[in-house]
Amino acid sequence: MKSVIIQNPIAQSTFIRKVIDNHGLIVFPTETVYGIGASIYDPIAIQSIFTTKGRPQDNPLIVHIAEQSQLDELVTEVNMYAKKLMAAFWPGPLTLVLPKSAKVPSIITANLPTVGVRMPKDPLARDVIRAAGVPLCAPSANLSGKPSGTDFKSVYEDFFGKVSIFIEGGIPEFGIESTVIDLTSQIPTILRPGAISAEEIEQVLGMVIVSSSQAENAPKAPGMKYQHYKPFGDVVILDGPTPKLIEFLRNLPDQDAVFMGANEVCGDLLELPINTFALGPQNQVDVIARALYRTLRTLDNLKVKTIYTHTFSKKGIGTALMNRLEKAASRTISL
Ligand code: TXA
Ligand code: MG
Repeated sequence: MKSVIIQNPIAQSTFIRKVIDNHGLIVFPTETVYGIGASIYDPIAIQSIFTTKGRPQDNPLIVHIAEQSQLDELVTEVNMYAKKLMAAFWPGPLTLVLPKSAKVPSIITANLPTVGVRMPKDPLARDVIRAAGVPLCAPSANLSGKPSGTDFKSVYEDFFGKVSIFIEGGIPEFGIESTVIDLTSQIPTILRPGAISAEEIEQVLGMVIVSSSQAENAPKAPGMKYQHYKPFGDVVILDGPTPKLIEFLRNLPDQDAVFMGANEVCGDLLELPINTFALGPQNQVDVIARALYRTLRTLDNLKVKTIYTHTFSKKGIGTALMNRLEKAASRTISL
């Protein structure tokens, strides 16, 4: 398949519309991670998202809109919680799960009676939706089970020749996916922690919300049950103070292992023979979150077999960072 790279979606809107009419897929940047999108009214194109990614069919897709007016055709009810959250966080990395309208094909929602909708903050993302003339359903642009794509090179490598259009953007502001919040339950429930923290949401709603990802029972966001964010290498989280970490790594039999962590911790390991990959300053968890997937993909390309890391503060985006890290990891070792 021929793939075309576009920098300005509005200038190329005639071409984009033609691709959409021909069941084409578009890889585009957002402020969280890159997405691989199709018209929400085109079940053939939507099916090819699942096939191209190797994504399980029972994992629903998020619908992306460019204007708030596009929400009306997608959902049957916009409650007070939704109104407050849209006013505070849209455009931005918050996906609202609301009762779906009959217009939304069930292939998008995996037959659920709800649909997840968000309005991305990245102007390029909204421009491509405007150019397409329809909302775009889009999962993260990565092969299923792999770390999400957070730079153009990664998504280009994964999908060159498999999609019709790439919209070329930069490095996403957040680097971790949107927060998914269910507004159809009695108390708003976070189904997937993400770029907007529970604290920020609670402040806007003036109430304590529920986080189902921390609950023991089966999570309601179907995607959360799958092995996710898995790099090629085996990720091991070391949980303990830095001196213990140094001691553990000093006695490591595995010569090929690497360490990925905060700048300060990597600095403390300079005397050891292990290669280190610094993610950012320890107290800037947003910088660390932005670097996570990119670093995991770099380590993938290097075919690193074992990646040691440490735990991070769960403040703000730190909850989402630790959630993704724990999903990427095979185990945590308490030191
Ligand atoms: O930041 C993001 O959300 C990125 C960018 C591209 O927008 N997209 C993304 O999509 O992360 P994906 O497909 O990788 O993850 C979507 C998550 C899954 O965990 C899925 O189960 C959940 O959202 N989800 C979607 N619709 C849902 C619904 N109706 N009810 C419950 N969970 C839903
Ligand atoms: Mg994903």
